[in-house]
Amino acid sequence: MTRKLIITGGAGFIGCHTASYFAKKGYEVVIIDNLSRKGSLDNLNWLTKQSPVTHYKTDIQDKKAVEEIFKKEKKIKGIIHLAAQVAVTTSVINPLNDFNVNALGTLNILEAVRNYCPNARFIYSSTNKVYGLLNTVKIIEAPKRYEINKKEGISESEPLDFHSPYGCSKGCADQYVLDYARIFNLQTVSFRQSCIYGERQFGVEDQGWLAWFIIATVLGRKISIFGDGKQVRDVLYVQDLVELYEKFIEQGNNLNGKAYNVGGGLKFSLSLLEFIDILKDQGLEISYTFGDWRPGDQKVFVSDNTKVIKELGWEPKTSPVQGIQHIVSWVKKHRELLSSFMSD
Ligand SMILES: NC(=O)c1ccc[n+]([C@@H]2O[C@H](COP(=O)([O-])OP(=O)(O)OC[C@H]3O[C@@H](n4cnc5c(N)ncnc54)[C@H](O)[C@@H]3O)[C@@H](O)[C@H]2O)c1
Repeated sequence: MTRKLIITGGAGFIGCHTASYFAKKGYEVVIIDNLSRKGSLDNLNWLTKQSPVTHYKTDIQDKKAVEEIFKKEKKIKGIIHLAAQVAVTTSVINPLNDFNVNALGTLNILEAVRNYCPNARFIYSSTNKVYGLLNTVKIIEAPKRYEINKKEGISESEPLDFHSPYGCSKGCADQYVLDYARIFNLQTVSFRQSCIYGERQFGVEDQGWLAWFIIATVLGRKISIFGDGKQVRDVLYVQDLVELYEKFIEQGNNLNGKAYNVGGGLKFSLSLLEFIDILKDQGLEISYTFGDWRPGDQKVFVSDNTKVIKELGWEPKTSPVQGIQHIVSWVKKHRELLSSFMSD
């Protein structure tokens, strides 16, 4: 039986790893990606060299074009919806575009699923930004990091509180995804992802900070830290996330309409200052200055993974030290390519 998967944003950072993984498992992979992100064409070339994938250079804002693809591609087992405008700063500069891609674009994909493959499993890559500034959580300042008064981190019971246009558009899409399970009986889940990192992440200053720090350091660029460097994130290596996607596509019975917080958890959390220490341990000399906090920046976000561990039997495996080693060697190998991107 054909096991066909549609991956929107399949040429992006998370998308190309997802596509590669599922193609190697024998899935027929169909990608919808308009290649608007710098680096996505390179990711697509990397992918097509190793796996046979079908690519549509289509914008998810184009409802008709999206529908045509779903009409043509039959027997779809799953959809992993990753295409998005991904930077908070860009969303502040152009909120309407951010809304059109993230909220309306998601609705276009959901409608196509409802009309052409209502029995397929659907994953939405949501974000921890749906919890906003976490004003109800008590922040404690330690010498190298902020901490919170919640032992396991932030769970799904935390109130939604969208901050920044990006938070609003992703949060809006997150709610539609859950509601389409209630109202139209679709098999949807929303994974509210923390910071994801790994190779092929063409990180820039305002998105993909972990990769950006490494790229900038290897290329000898200066880095600005927004805030005081004590902000904490739990970090999840991309391969671990892809394994979670597989669990839902393969085994996600009766999970429709659920949201899960997904991240490295407390065990795999880091402050920027601690991250810099790891880079130093790996022989990188990093040069940085401090600047103002950005709108919507959380001081601490650590995902409480209890629900996803219990209901999907998944756990992050890769420690930040291991994952960072992988990126450092990828960046060192692709110095020229990354340098040409930076000078564009
Ligand atoms: N990387 C993270 O840390 C992180 C954390 C939380 C949530 N997410 C979510 O995961 C998803 C993937 O993130 P990523 O880091 O791989 O980003 P990415 O920018 O590398 O990938 C997104 C892909 O979508 C494509 N795209 C953008 N707009 C499009 C449009 N209008 N039509 C079709 N394709 C379009 C881009 O060309 C790119 O290839 C996003 O939805 C993002 O919001 C990412």
